[in-house]
Amino acid sequence: MGLLYPLTRFPTVSVLRIAVTYGMGSLFIILLKIGIEKHRPDIVDSDHRPQDIGTDFLDKYDFIIVGSGSAGSVLAYRLSEIADWKILLLEAGGPATELSEVPLLFASLQLSDLDWKFKSEPTGTSCLAMNGGQCNWPRGKVLGGCSVLNALMYVRGNRRDYDRWEELGNVGWGYDDMLYYFKKSEGNRISELKGSKYHSSGGPLTVEYFRHRTPIAKAFMEASEELGLRNVDVNGKWQTGYTYTPGTLRDGLRCSTVKAFLRPALKRPNLHISMYSHVTQLVMAGKKVVGVKFKKGDEYYTVKARKEVILSAGSVQTPQIMMLSGIGPAKHLEKHGIHIKADLPVGKNLQDHVAHGGTAYLIDKNEGFILPKELNLKTVKNFLFNHNGALYGNPISEVMAFVKTQYANKSVDWPDVQLFLSSTADNTDGGIFGKRDQGLTDSYYAAMYEPILYQPTYAIIILLLRPKSRGVIKLKSKNPFDPPLIHPNYFSDPRDIKVLREGSKIAYAYSKTKAMSRLNARINPTHIPGCRHLEFLSDGYWECAIRHYTMTIYHPVGTAKMGPDNDKDAVVDARLRVRGGIKGLRVVDGSIMPYIVNGNTNAPIIAIAEKAADLIKEDWQQDYK
Ligand SMILES: Cc1cc2nc3c(=O)[nH]c(=O)nc-3n(C[C@H](O)[C@H](O)[C@H](O)COP(=O)(O)OP(=O)(O)OC[C@H]3O[C@@H](n4cnc5c(N)ncnc54)[C@H](O)[C@@H]3O)c2cc1C
Ligand SMILES: *[C@@H]1O[C@H](CO)[C@@H](O)[C@H](O)[C@H]1NC(C)=O
Repeated sequence: MGLLYPLTRFPTVSVLRIAVTYGMGSLFIILLKIGIEKHRPDIVDSDHRPQDIGTDFLDKYDFIIVGSGSAGSVLAYRLSEIADWKILLLEAGGPATELSEVPLLFASLQLSDLDWKFKSEPTGTSCLAMNGGQCNWPRGKVLGGCSVLNALMYVRGNRRDYDRWEELGNVGWGYDDMLYYFKKSEGNRISELKGSKYHSSGGPLTVEYFRHRTPIAKAFMEASEELGLRNVDVNGKWQTGYTYTPGTLRDGLRCSTVKAFLRPALKRPNLHISMYSHVTQLVMAGKKVVGVKFKKGDEYYTVKARKEVILSAGSVQTPQIMMLSGIGPAKHLEKHGIHIKADLPVGKNLQDHVAHGGTAYLIDKNEGFILPKELNLKTVKNFLFNHNGALYGNPISEVMAFVKTQYANKSVDWPDVQLFLSSTADNTDGGIFGKRDQGLTDSYYAAMYEPILYQPTYAIIILLLRPKSRGVIKLKSKNPFDPPLIHPNYFSDPRDIKVLREGSKIAYAYSKTKAMSRLNARINPTHIPGCRHLEFLSDGYWECAIRHYTMTIYHPVGTAKMGPDNDKDAVVDARLRVRGGIKGLRVVDGSIMPYIVNGNTNAPIIAIAEKAADLIKEDWQQDYK
């Protein structure tokens, strides 16, 4: 029957206790911040601070790029290589903080000023353990976009993802074409990958292993092997298997797209960057996009584009800006009284990597990451003076594995679940990261994690790689400052929860391996409050658990789908030009993916932008030397 903790027993304890822990946490952060400013000139890097153009914009640019995230930064870098082209990069956020460079602190950036702080709409069948039944949807509101907030994992997806894009009729988007662009941007520094035909070391986006690991990482590797998986380069020939997590890192610190792509372009006189510039609308002459309107400070400005406007505002806001400008589903726009320029399925086809989080496995020895134990002077000193220690780690994913459930095709290397093997869990961070970022209710946290607070634990997060469910982004109103409505529709296709359930069982199987048994691994015995009517660990129980601790892995894509002429769901063509007779407008970001890729999305979106830059250069070839 396990240990049952009535719902009401702990809530106040939890709230009070967490308030106290937050206090400790913020002291540590302040200390670290002061230390970095004093002792880490490499992080402060005052010579490479991106400069804001202020209000000295030109009247007209050749290209205006909206959004400086993973895609927008790459475009700014590649298009400004052509000295004759004047480029304006518009970004709603400001520059990143120094703390964003520290891998361990990635989770602390969510719900800060660097985050748009979106939430999904409640459905009653997912995100049930979260306040209001809504999952948080962090998105970077900062120069560099989500590449500044993300968990740094460098993953490309699967050969079949891109081949499938091409089979749909998107010529030039197959795996071999995309491999060229992955390699173009990559600066791989992992020694055992030297010489691999899948990697290159010359590109600006540096890739390393995390500099710090906890002892349990080794046990994760052994346990994966016991489960019959192979140790592979998940970005190479074969994806199914396990690996120490590769990261977009440079000298152990975050390599955002600002560091990789914008910094090398900062001295180019033909690139202007305007921060704190919120684009509210495209400016159009009939069906031709001729510029953008944006708000900076208290003023609105209009800037013209001689050649093109490129939307790189991400999969949530690219569709929002299009709809606000009259490009979107006619019925929906009519409802908001927006004049229709092109009736296109903008905002539809939303796909995200939904995951099952929160399952904690207790162990006897502290081989993982217990946050308060690491919040100390030694950790700060190690970071500041020795350039090592826990702050260089990524406990959320020490090891990752790509596995196949019974629903995947056995004879094909196209796994359907990704596992993040974590040396941390909701109980070991005391609620500072997990609870806060996910928006877990106090009562859920109190019931599930207070009883095992700070006990040695690990966790495994289970990610559904190819969801069948489709969501939609809609306008809440005509007001560009209202966040759009996010309907992920998790599990609306019943096949999705089954795959996650089987993935959860694979995660559970880890606890029965010799490697984990040596640590006496055992699942958190507390039954989820809302699932107590179901037999513990039965199929029904797992599904109930998934509907409670539903998690986004922050990979929304697909909301301005790329497709050929005969695809009525397509918003852009294979050159990423917007359809429906619209001229002078391209979309270059995660929105264009017809199907989500089989892995994390940062590197794929960077590769998309690399390719887009070449397409744009080709299309304006008369200027391109
Ligand atoms: C918390 C978190 C963890 C993640 N972890 C990983 C990971 O470990 N590995 C991985 O590969 N991927 C990860 N991702 C996902 C990955 O980072 C994103 O898929 C990718 O960065 C998205 O790139 P993008 O160019 O499409 O959009 P974004 O990077 O979101 O860029 C959009 C930019 O447009 C700006 N913008 C939006 N609206 C406007 C407007 N109206 N006016 C002006 N500017 C605007 C935004 O401020 C932002 O800077 C994570 C994401 C998050 C949030
Ligand atoms: C599995 O993949 C193989 C190879 O592509 C294919 O021939 C077969 O039909 C697939 N099986 C199923 C059940 O889809």
